[in-house]
Amino acid sequence: MTSSTQCTELGFLGLGRMGGNMVERIMHHGGIRVVVWNRSPEPAQRLEGMGAIRAETPEQVVSLLNAPRKVVWLMLPAGDVTEEHFTKMCGLLGPGDVLIDGANSHFRDTVRRHRIAADLGIRMLDIGVSGGIIAAQRGYPLMAGGDRETWEYVLPVIESFGIDGGFALLGPGGAGHYVKMVHNAIEYGMMEAIAEGFELLREGSFPEVDLSEVAHLWNHGTIVSSFLMEMVEQGLATGVDDLLPHVDDSGEGRWAAQEAIDRKVPFGVNTLALHKRFISQRRENDYGLKLVAAMRRAFGGHGVKR
Ligand SMILES: NC(=O)c1ccc[n+]([C@@H]2O[C@H](COP(=O)([O-])OP(=O)(O)OC[C@H]3O[C@@H](n4cnc5c(N)ncnc54)[C@H](OP(=O)(O)O)[C@@H]3O)[C@@H](O)[C@H]2O)c1
Repeated sequence: MTSSTQCTELGFLGLGRMGGNMVERIMHHGGIRVVVWNRSPEPAQRLEGMGAIRAETPEQVVSLLNAPRKVVWLMLPAGDVTEEHFTKMCGLLGPGDVLIDGANSHFRDTVRRHRIAADLGIRMLDIGVSGGIIAAQRGYPLMAGGDRETWEYVLPVIESFGIDGGFALLGPGGAGHYVKMVHNAIEYGMMEAIAEGFELLREGSFPEVDLSEVAHLWNHGTIVSSFLMEMVEQGLATGVDDLLPHVDDSGEGRWAAQEAIDRKVPFGVNTLALHKRFISQRRENDYGLKLVAAMRRAFGGHGVKR
């Protein structure tokens, strides 16, 4: 139950694919007054129509919060944009206020930001958000780092859009983003494993096998049934043939692979999946593969394709 030691309002910056739906879920749950801001006005106007209070600027978000302890959530691209708004909020919030970073920020940036905030008396939480865009319907799993008192203060917000059993304070500042980084690296590895299996089925000894039927079946009680397998089922239903085999990576897989090397932790499957993405990003412009073809031609007279 919400008490005076828990927050009842929230400022929210960044209403993109994640932030907009997260706020919608918070408002649908009720009990939290939400002040929103977005760089382009439309997403904030949409939420205003649903009962949020719309601020014209990030500064106004802070001034429109009434609570003695203000809480502001950043849901912006990691890196420079989050840094800019973190710095701005540090200049606007005061001792005891809470600043939450929900971006996929690098955990080392997060540890540094926790120190900066702590020096100003601002309490910070880093919260890795999972579930993707589909979480708008299912709720958002949340992996947090920070101190327990601050976590308990914001629990009403967490409970309003999280999932029962799907949120936790996992350690001190940085731990939330660290766990989210490892989560995303595992995601790369799992996706690659599933993709390879379906590729073998498609090109294997039994071409009659219907891949959609397999995905559907595998989602019914098998060991590999999963959220990702559901995404395969959906993808096959809409068709993938018109997509280019290009897969971007957004950083967490690289950071996790680097961290695993620094710690001498074997991380082969997830790193291989990351490298497969790098290859996909180069496609026919992969200079290294051109050199491999040239070497094979030189030492073995093997054919090359132009
Ligand atoms: N998508 C996912 O599945 C997912 C899952 C978990 C976590 N995340 C993380 O959540 C964060 C937001 O992701 P998203 O998918 O919601 O991103 P998105 O749909 O691309 O939205 C980006 C948001 O940031 C704003 N923004 C971009 N550049 C800005 C700038 N220079 N100044 C101010 N605002 C700026 C955008 O405003 P405009 O509307 O004006 O462009 C928009 O509100 C990222 O850190 C991402 O890594 C994403």
